[in-house]
Amino acid sequence: MSKINKCLFPAAGYGTRFLPATKAIPKEMLPVLTKPLLQYGVEEAIEAGIHTIAIVTGRGKRAIEDHFDISYELENQIQGTAKEEYLAQIRDVINKCTFSYTRQIEMKGLGHAILTGETLIGQEPFAVVLADDLCDNERDGVLMQMTKLYEKYRCSIVAVEEVPKEETNKYGVIAGDFIEDNLVRVNNMVEKPDPKDAPSNLAIIGRYILTPDIFDILRLTKPGKGGEIQITDALLEQAKNGKVLAYKFEGKRFDCGSVDGFVEATNYFYKKSK
Ligand code: UTP
Repeated sequence: MSKINKCLFPAAGYGTRFLPATKAIPKEMLPVLTKPLLQYGVEEAIEAGIHTIAIVTGRGKRAIEDHFDISYELENQIQGTAKEEYLAQIRDVINKCTFSYTRQIEMKGLGHAILTGETLIGQEPFAVVLADDLCDNERDGVLMQMTKLYEKYRCSIVAVEEVPKEETNKYGVIAGDFIEDNLVRVNNMVEKPDPKDAPSNLAIIGRYILTPDIFDILRLTKPGKGGEIQITDALLEQAKNGKVLAYKFEGKRFDCGSVDGFVEATNYFYKKSK
């Protein structure tokens, strides 16, 4: 299959860096200006031509399902008033997509969350978006750039960006050989390495295209760094058997899983909205 039709959003994490805000509100529902992080991610998927949205949720995350649904009472209340326009964008998202959900019962890491999504994805290549990495582009969105690449290379692709060497311990870090200006054939991948052990300063951010054989690999992947099942460990295995590419994307990325990144994103989008 040559086209990416489905996008998986792992959204079951605890979001401990945002406590107490995330005690009862999912991290993915925190708004940058008036829009929740997850809605930005779904809009990026729509821009890339993807309309089948699969979300891995967990306990205390029901606000996500309610957000991508109609609120009859609210809509009835504001019908015919100027306030209707506030809901226009989310209504458009709901009309364009189908949403399906599954729950991760135990939060055993991103790799495990992706494996939990298998039931919603099946045997086809798919995109993964971590909504707390908020991306913005003047031209094509990051997912659009990656789906175009997938059509050419037909293999798993991770988005990477250069980070300061002292920050490698926050990311999965790749190494490999450049096959195009912005494209690396991956031959090594380490989760959150100490700067002194990092194989490069190219860090994986929250956008992936994965081929479905990743599910079988994830099933066999043992807990790694932090006792969690890591997608980087599974991708390294996939890289050994075939091909995994790392793509230096064009555009801005904000780490909205951290308070600093969230504030930076808020300031950026506020300025842009004026
Ligand atoms: P993070 O590493 O940011 O973890 O997860 P977290 O739990 O959300 O946040 P902190 O570190 O406690 O503040 C990256 C992405 O993977 C998802 C999260 O929801 C987030 O989108 N995730 C992580 C899961 O869905 N399940 C997990 O078990 C772990």
